[in-house]
Amino acid sequence: MQKISKLAVLTSGGDAPGMNPCIRAVVRTAIYNGLNVVGVKQGYKGLIENDMYDMNKRSVSNILNLGGTILKTARCLEFRTDEGMETAYQNLKAQGIDALVVIGGDGTFTGALRFSKKYPDIQIIGVPGTIDNDLYGSTYTLGFDTATNTVIEAIDKIRDTADAHDRLFFIEVMGRDSGAIALRAGISCGAEAILLPEVETAIDDLIASIKTGHLNKKSSSIVIVAEGDKHGGVYDIAKMVEKEVEHYDIKVTILGHLQRGGSPSSFDRILGSRLGFAAVNALIAGETQHMVGLRANEIVLTSLEEALTSHEFKLEDDLMQMAHILSI
Ligand code: F6P
Repeated sequence: MQKISKLAVLTSGGDAPGMNPCIRAVVRTAIYNGLNVVGVKQGYKGLIENDMYDMNKRSVSNILNLGGTILKTARCLEFRTDEGMETAYQNLKAQGIDALVVIGGDGTFTGALRFSKKYPDIQIIGVPGTIDNDLYGSTYTLGFDTATNTVIEAIDKIRDTADAHDRLFFIEVMGRDSGAIALRAGISCGAEAILLPEVETAIDDLIASIKTGHLNKKSSSIVIVAEGDKHGGVYDIAKMVEKEVEHYDIKVTILGHLQRGGSPSSFDRILGSRLGFAAVNALIAGETQHMVGLRANEIVLTSLEEALTSHEFKLEDDLMQMAHILSI
């Protein structure tokens, strides 16, 4: 087993609250174990552009409470090319870096896996950091709890005004391919309907259930739409419903990027700390091409391959059914 001496940490893809506590844990665990640590700016872009800096314990002081990522992040197309990967590899080698912690979502892990297969002498461990909660191998990803709480706070406020005016609101939440935030927020806020990318919802059924709600004397209705829903966007859905539902004044709200910001919740601070700590320990133990995750409150390793190809969300049909029954 090769012994690592210098590791680099980066955040990539969409930022997620909890990334900073994770960076802090990576840096301090590495230093505790006698390793040198380098921070890479803007994810894979920083690897290609050689934008890295030495970190010490004080580089990560007072960041537990900060949203975003002190390392900054990017979606880097160049890293998908052989040339981009080769440049990144040469930059890592030139600095004597032999291990990488990548914090991000499925795009980040896809890049990490390809890179690691090409250059297996650089050990890589992934940390699931995305508000989308869509990686197999961790019941929760970093940022999902904070983002869901942000959404709940916003929808509770919308419910107040919806109720005051007897209105029907369509609220779009993030999740291009994942309905995780929509489902949790929908249950938490008692949404009358939840539209998810993973589930085909017939518009006729949606209209029927809104009408039934009105007959059952509901004064307001809230429909949560995940941004990746297959009907083509929240405005289109609202228009289709508007033609058939006369008794409600209809409004649309898109929550957008406010969902990605904000101080991480207690849950995300602890999850970030645990996963960062575990990632460095996994590298020291010689692991590579794996993701650290949390399942049944235990830290577990899942291969990056499996994390990308399986999908935890499939297991949650029971939540969908419960959400429907409880909102009638
Ligand atoms: O992957 C996280 C996420 O917030 C998705 O929910 C959303 O679809 C996407 O990122 C938005 O990406 P960007 O900030 O690049 O527009």
